[in-house]
Amino acid sequence: MEVKEENKEEYEIHGDFSQDTISAKYDELCRNYEEVYNSVGWPDPVQCAEKAIENGFTGESHVLDMGCGTGLVVDYLKEKSGAETVNAIGIDASEGMLKKAKAKGLYSEIRNFLLCNPENFNTNHSDLLGKFDFVTASGLLAEGHATPDVFDEMIGALKVGGYAIFTSRIEYLEPLNYQKGMDERVESGEWEFVKKEAYEKYSKAKDCPLGRFKPVMSEVFVFRKL
Ligand SMILES: C[S@@+](CC[C@H](N)C(=O)[O-])C[C@H]1O[C@@H](n2cnc3c(N)ncnc32)[C@H](O)[C@@H]1O
Repeated sequence: MEVKEENKEEYEIHGDFSQDTISAKYDELCRNYEEVYNSVGWPDPVQCAEKAIENGFTGESHVLDMGCGTGLVVDYLKEKSGAETVNAIGIDASEGMLKKAKAKGLYSEIRNFLLCNPENFNTNHSDLLGKFDFVTASGLLAEGHATPDVFDEMIGALKVGGYAIFTSRIEYLEPLNYQKGMDERVESGEWEFVKKEAYEKYSKAKDCPLGRFKPVMSEVFVFRKL
């Protein structure tokens, strides 16, 4: 990976995330989001798409893409499955990211709100409850992005038997309580663990680490709603 001196700032502004400022932050990052992430190596969206396909995704499936950003999960779902269209609704906190997703014309509907508030989700988005075969969240479980409350929104949105598929850096699982959140919902019988797989991300930044972009291990998780 080669980054010109004048472009380095585009990599270094990624970071210092907090839920209070997440939408403004991604409104800024959206201008070069895909160029930056693709240049460092960003397997999260294709990991989510492949796991959905392995678990029965077809062009008939209904997908809720949480933290959809510019729409990379649906890009890959379409490309990898060969489906002509994907029935997908995208949710994201950032209007700027959603503008890019909208321009691709891949989502049947897009909603702009902050996740991790199950009360708001259940009250103001009750039409999404129990409707989806797949909920995907690529790159949403991260520092300053999402709390484990998002698992309740995933479970709420899924049909019984539907799949929640999401990624997280391994180093976030304990400190951000993601592992605890997953385990608690297994114990309470809300979902069952299906699979997880580890992979490295930001691999292309190996020789040129910039800001938060250096090779790091992540996992993709699959849970099935009971
Ligand atoms: C790293 S990007 C991932 C985007 C896309 N899923 C992908 O794989 O390229 C994280 C996205 O999640 C959104 N996001 C972060 N926290 C959020 C929250 N609490 N509620 C809704 N969207 C959030 C951001 O605006 C951003 O678009």
